[in-house]
Amino acid sequence: MTARTSFPKQDIEILLLENIHATAHEVFRGEGFHVTAAPAAMPEAELAAALRDVHLLGIRSKTRITERSLAEARRLLAIGAFCIGTNQIDLGAANRKGVPVFNAPFSNTRSVAEMVLAEVIVLARKLFDRSSAVHAGRWRKAADGSYEVRGKTLGIVGYGHIGSQVGVLAEALGMRVLTHDIRSTLAIGSSRPCATLHELLGLADFVTLHVPETPQTTNLIGALELAAMRPGSYLINASRGHVVDIEALAAALRSGHLGGAAIDVFPVEPEGNSDAFLSPLRGLDNVVLTPHVGGSTMEAQAAIGREVAVALTKFVNTGATTGAVNFPQIEAPPIAGTHRVLNVHRNVPGVLRDVNRIVSDLNANIHAQMLATDATIGYLVMDLDQDVSDEVKRRVAALETNIRTRILY
Ligand code: NAI
Repeated sequence: MTARTSFPKQDIEILLLENIHATAHEVFRGEGFHVTAAPAAMPEAELAAALRDVHLLGIRSKTRITERSLAEARRLLAIGAFCIGTNQIDLGAANRKGVPVFNAPFSNTRSVAEMVLAEVIVLARKLFDRSSAVHAGRWRKAADGSYEVRGKTLGIVGYGHIGSQVGVLAEALGMRVLTHDIRSTLAIGSSRPCATLHELLGLADFVTLHVPETPQTTNLIGALELAAMRPGSYLINASRGHVVDIEALAAALRSGHLGGAAIDVFPVEPEGNSDAFLSPLRGLDNVVLTPHVGGSTMEAQAAIGREVAVALTKFVNTGATTGAVNFPQIEAPPIAGTHRVLNVHRNVPGVLRDVNRIVSDLNANIHAQMLATDATIGYLVMDLDQDVSDEVKRRVAALETNIRTRILY
C-alpha cells in the first residue's frame, strides 16, 4: 500500500523557460515532478496564460515577471531565478501573492575567485599586452616590468564568499594576504585583517574588490583611494561597476601611478552583445577588460541549475524558505507522525491569535509552530496531529487575512 500523501508528486507541474541547465531537470525528475521546458523567454500575456496550471516556474534573466503575469497564477508555489540577479522579477508582487523567489547567489563564487587569481598573474607579467603585441606580429622579448607574484601582497576588500576564496588561492601561490571588511570576519589561512581601507591600500601590491553594491560602496575607490595605493600597484574589480570611480582610475593608469588594472564590471554596461562598449579605460596599457564574465563558467551554470532546483524542491516538500530573496525565512525540520500546515497571511495584528483559536477549538496539539514576518506578509509553519490537520487547514484558509495555505504530508 502506498502512503497517503497531500499531493501526488507527478501532479506538480513545472515550467522551465530560457534553456535552464540539465542539472535542474535531473533534480526535478529525481523527485518525480512533471517538467515542461521552453527555450526562450515568454512575453507577459503568454506567460500569464502559461502560469495558470503551473506550480513552479523557472526563469533566467530574460523573462520579465510582472504583477500582471502573476495575476492568474493561482497554483504557483514558487519561482526559481536560475541566475544571480532578480531585478527582472516584481519581487513585491510575488511576495504579496505568497510566492517566494529563489536564486543562486553562491554558485559562481569559485569561478570569480579563479578569474581574479588568473588576473593577478596576468597583470604582474603584462601577459595581455605581450600577447596582443605578438598577435599583431610584434616580437618583444623582455623582462622589464614583469614580476613573480610569490611574496607579493594581495589586499582583499570585502572578505565574504568570493574574497575569502581568493585569499585561499593567493596563499597557495605564496602571496601575503591582507583583508578589509566592515564586518569582523574569520581570517582563513594566514590572512591578516586591516583596520582601515587606507591601511590596506598603502600596503598591498594588488588590491581586489569583493564588496556588494551599497550606498557605502559607491565610488569606494575614488581619486583619494587610488592615490593611497602603492606606486606601480594593480587594481582588480570583479564586484560591481559603481564601486570604482572609473574616470579617476583611468587618470591613475594614464599617469603611471598604477601598474595596471583588471576590470570585469562597469558603471554602465552594454544592454546586449551587439551594443558598443564605451569606457575611458579602453586602449590603456596593461588593462584587462572583460565583459562581466567573472561568474560565467560551465561549472557555475551547472551549479546554478542544481542549487535553485534543490531550493525549490525543498520548499515544495517541507516549506523551507531559506535563501528566498523576497520572503520571510523559515526552515523547520519535519516531525515524524505530524502533518504540516503552511500559511501565508497579510501581516496585520491578531493573525496568530485567530489561528491558535482554530487549533484550540479543534482540541488539537501543536507539535511545532514557527512564524516569520516581513513588512507585508507573515509565514506560519505548524506541525499538527494528523487527524485534525485537514480541518485546521480549511479554517485557516478561510480567515480573512489568508493569502495562501497548503498542507504537507
Ligand atoms: P558576500 O556578501 O559574500 O561578501 C561581501 C563582503 O563585503 C561581506 O563580507 C561584507 O561585509 C563586505 N562589505 C560590505 N560593504 C563593505 C565595505 N563598505 N567595505 C568593506 N567590506 C564591505 O558577497 P560575494 O558573494 O563574495 O560577492 C561579492 C561581489 O561580487 C558582489 O558585489 C557580487 O555582486 C559580485 N559578483 C560578481 C560576479 C561577476 O560576474 N563579476 C559574479 C558573482 C558576484
